[in-house]
Amino acid sequence: MLHLDLPWSWLAVTFSVLLCLKPSTSSDVSGSRPNILLLMADDLGIGDIGCYGNNTVRTPNIDRLSEGGVKLTHHITAASVCTPSRAAFLTGRYPIRSGMVSSSGYRVLQWAGASGGLPTNETTFAKILKDNDYATGLIGKWHLGLNCESSNDHCHHPLNHGFDHFYGMPFSPMADCAYWELSEKRVSLERKLSLCFQMVAFAALTLVAGRLTGLTWGSWMPVILSTIAATVLLMAWYFVGALIVHANCFLMKNYTITEQPMRLQRTTSLILEEVSSFLKRNKHGPFLLFVSFLHVHVPLTTTENFLGKSHHGLYGDNVEEMDWMVGQILDTLDKEGLTDSTLIYFTSDHGGSLESQFRNNQYGGWNGIYKGGKGMGGWEGGIRVPGIFRWPRMLPAGRVIDEPTSLMDVFPTVVQLGGGQVPQDRVIDGRDLLPLLLGNVQHSDHEFLLHYCERFLHAARWHQRDRGTVWKVHYMTPVFQPEGASACYGTAVCPCSGENVVQHDPPLLFDLSRDPSESHVLTPATEPSFYQVMERVQQAVEQHQQTLHPGPLQLDMLENIWRPWLQPCCGPFPLCWCDREDSRQ
Ligand SMILES: *[C@@H]1O[C@H](CO)[C@@H](O)[C@H](O)[C@H]1NC(C)=O
Ligand SMILES: *[C@@H]1O[C@H](CO)[C@@H](O)[C@H](O)[C@H]1NC(C)=O
Ligand SMILES: *[C@@H]1O[C@H](CO)[C@@H](O)[C@H](O)[C@H]1NC(C)=O
Repeated sequence: MLHLDLPWSWLAVTFSVLLCLKPSTSSDVSGSRPNILLLMADDLGIGDIGCYGNNTVRTPNIDRLSEGGVKLTHHITAASVCTPSRAAFLTGRYPIRSGMVSSSGYRVLQWAGASGGLPTNETTFAKILKDNDYATGLIGKWHLGLNCESSNDHCHHPLNHGFDHFYGMPFSPMADCAYWELSEKRVSLERKLSLCFQMVAFAALTLVAGRLTGLTWGSWMPVILSTIAATVLLMAWYFVGALIVHANCFLMKNYTITEQPMRLQRTTSLILEEVSSFLKRNKHGPFLLFVSFLHVHVPLTTTENFLGKSHHGLYGDNVEEMDWMVGQILDTLDKEGLTDSTLIYFTSDHGGSLESQFRNNQYGGWNGIYKGGKGMGGWEGGIRVPGIFRWPRMLPAGRVIDEPTSLMDVFPTVVQLGGGQVPQDRVIDGRDLLPLLLGNVQHSDHEFLLHYCERFLHAARWHQRDRGTVWKVHYMTPVFQPEGASACYGTAVCPCSGENVVQHDPPLLFDLSRDPSESHVLTPATEPSFYQVMERVQQAVEQHQQTLHPGPLQLDMLENIWRPWLQPCCGPFPLCWCDREDSRQ
């Protein structure tokens, strides 16, 4: 029978030779393009999870990811608040390049009905993967804008940025979404409205009193008009809380609003259902799914099963619930046989909020040994976050990498894995992580990382590889209050500029490799290479600045105010009420 087998073996040999001759690129190391599942927590501190050293919050599922994959210990976000950090994540570029920053104290988008958002000429990794035949989905929080000119042009919508499936909150969870929470925005609007009401009411009463006592004469018109104005202001003051809830806290599926306002208690199970059905629908792949959790942002909505179960109050309960959600998603992957072919990534959009510990009498995240937190431009606690990659088929299990890496690196990494091309017509700040994850190189490609607060450069980091040192230079730092505190307890979040920010001359220098908590400032007297380090970093900053050509700033005041005509509304304006989730089952 030999003569029958012969052609087949020849065919096999020829085929293998052809396979070997095929030029190999980093994107076909695996022989096939992986599915990509990105998990992002909101406001989670690096010190909140087990595999980063927490021994009292239970996060077995995230720990399981880390055991089966690669853990990054020096993983840095491009900003310390949501909107700019997420813009950088999706585009691989510092947010100042896309204009996703402000110059005026607005840190993130404030309204679903604001006109700012991720510009349409920015390219997300989802867009590139979609063009390379990936099924792309975003489930959860977006917070990168919605409309430009009318309430349904959806110019900034996820579906206009490369996702072909969206389910979740176009805006962001926040304290306003739960009427029982103390909310900055509501309190400040209420204060303004009440002041206006009092002034107008006082004017009306003065006019009436004048008429009654016969001191003034003439038309009743001013009395009537001021009374109407006072009534409108009173109503606005009374209802402003409800208005904010309807304006910002709603769910969408693709372009359709499904629940306005959303029922917070139900959202967790709705999100899990959507994830599961996306995975089942697309199991023949390849797919890119970005699950952007509403956990662990205030109002920390937690379902019954987890309430009161952790050792760390409502915050801990919420972290443990999110970990359980991660577990549910991993189980679905297992059941669908997708585990080996899926690259999973877990991270947080920035560090935990220290201020919310104080204000809402509720826990924000814990940033471990790192100084500072959410909202601070340069301090490590606001920008150093967990970073875990797992891909059983390719990546070693249990590897730990201490090299400086950035969330922006996810962009070129997944683009190349998906067989796409990194855009050549613009600066991309992220670097392909695959060689580092595989252990093919020892060092990350980042020599410098810059740390912005709005459009202001607060700090820079230099990895001096030949010395094995990571330097951090702070040009500006926020003033903590009250004195001696370790955060800005006087406000919701630290400012980026103005009188409560100190400009340092000379800048503050730390050696992160020996002093990760940034507690010992180095001076020319204690650090012989002080001036060389300053000079080298300054040079890098100047080089970087020459590559900046920011377009219009998307988060400045005019782009960030509520415009009634941009308000997405389900049902008649201004009621904006509907519930289409009930027809689900
Ligand atoms: C674990 O996390 C909780 C909640 O954020 C925090 O209060 C606690 O200090 C952390 N423990 C450790 C050992 O980091
Ligand atoms: C969203 O729209 C895309 C097509 O644009 C469709 O494939 C997908 O099923 C839609 N998703 C939902 C939840 O309707
Ligand atoms: C996008 O357009 C703006 C002008 O509206 C421009 O400043 C910016 O450079 C453009 N970005 C890219 C990546 O082309």
